Amino acid sequence: MRVAFVGKGGSGKTTLSALFSRYVAGRGAPVVAVDADINQHLGMILGVEEPDLPPPMGGHLTEIKDYLRGDNPRIPSAEVMVKTTPPGRGSRLLTLGERTDPLHRRFAVPTPEGPELMVTGPFEESDLGVACYHSKVGAVELYLNHLVDGAGEYVVVDMTAGADSFASGLFTRFDMTYLVAEPTRQGVSVYRQYRDYASEFGVRIAVVGNKVHGEQDVAFLRDHVGDDLLTWFEHSAAVRALEQGRPFALDDLEPANLDALGVLLKQLDGCEKDWRRFGEQAIEFHLRNAAAWANRATGTDLAAQIDPEFVFGPAALAEPTPYASVAPRPMEGGGSPL
Ligand SMILES: Nc1ncnc2c1ncn2[C@@H]1O[C@H](COP(=O)(O)OP(=O)(O)O)[C@@H](O)[C@H]1O
Ligand SMILES: [Mg+2]
Repeated sequence: MRVAFVGKGGSGKTTLSALFSRYVAGRGAPVVAVDADINQHLGMILGVEEPDLPPPMGGHLTEIKDYLRGDNPRIPSAEVMVKTTPPGRGSRLLTLGERTDPLHRRFAVPTPEGPELMVTGPFEESDLGVACYHSKVGAVELYLNHLVDGAGEYVVVDMTAGADSFASGLFTRFDMTYLVAEPTRQGVSVYRQYRDYASEFGVRIAVVGNKVHGEQDVAFLRDHVGDDLLTWFEHSAAVRALEQGRPFALDDLEPANLDALGVLLKQLDGCEKDWRRFGEQAIEFHLRNAAAWANRATGTDLAAQIDPEFVFGPAALAEPTPYASVAPRPMEGGGSPL
């Protein structure tokens, strides 16, 4: 199951992504937490010191593309693979169970509390707001497009609610999107925009209030987002301690906040996967992307990358295709597993 935490800077995306990842991992489930936020500090909150951070996926797009395209004859090189290029027969697919594939081995590191961490790497001015060929969140989109996940295993993405994810279709790659909102006018301002995009594409969103101080705050959120308010987190002394680098265990969380984590998990687990829609939207956004800029950028007709025979979801793992046995390719830069 995939979940995104989105919202304005400072709303608490990173905090809630980290708490949720730890909560779910604490129940024994495989969890990959992905830092795709502008300010990269999911790692810090998950207890990973700077030198131990994984390599930034956004800085290794060519390697990632070369791995994922595998032997897919429709994608002859990484140069013509863009962030929306969908998998087809011969592509390498990813699963969450053992995570022994070269991509997870290279780009995911364990964190002390159980979740594994992957990061896009820090954003630069030129990465923001453009449907850019080199955008770092493109690495996350490629990852999610090639991932076949199921119940009881989780990817948690800490993500900015930005134009980049709307333009590329990244916002349609999740089973559930939690929009983190503080109970202020600023805080709920992203909500309407996100809701409108989301409803157009059948994307499930729910609002999660954060830093709530009492009934008035809850009433404010209800007024502005109505039934989309799923749950809320109170302003937390334990979270402050975490931020200050003091020891923190999930059990230090206030009971209401712990309950709110349970609500998030229950909601996510209750989502039914719709692989057909997932595949259709992957293709829809690839075609849009191709027409908007990617055909021009690559000098090819990217519609030809779509494999009409490819079936998204577990079926793609179960049925070996004529291209499915992928011979190892010499690796870039020597020893690296990708
Ligand atoms: N429920 C909470 N209680 C107390 N402080 C919080 C809470 N949620 C977030 N914060 C604090 O608010 C600040 C911004 O949170 P952060 O998760 O970094 O936001 P974002 O990732 O959306 O920019 C941090 O200092 C964080 O510790
Ligand atoms: Mg953040």
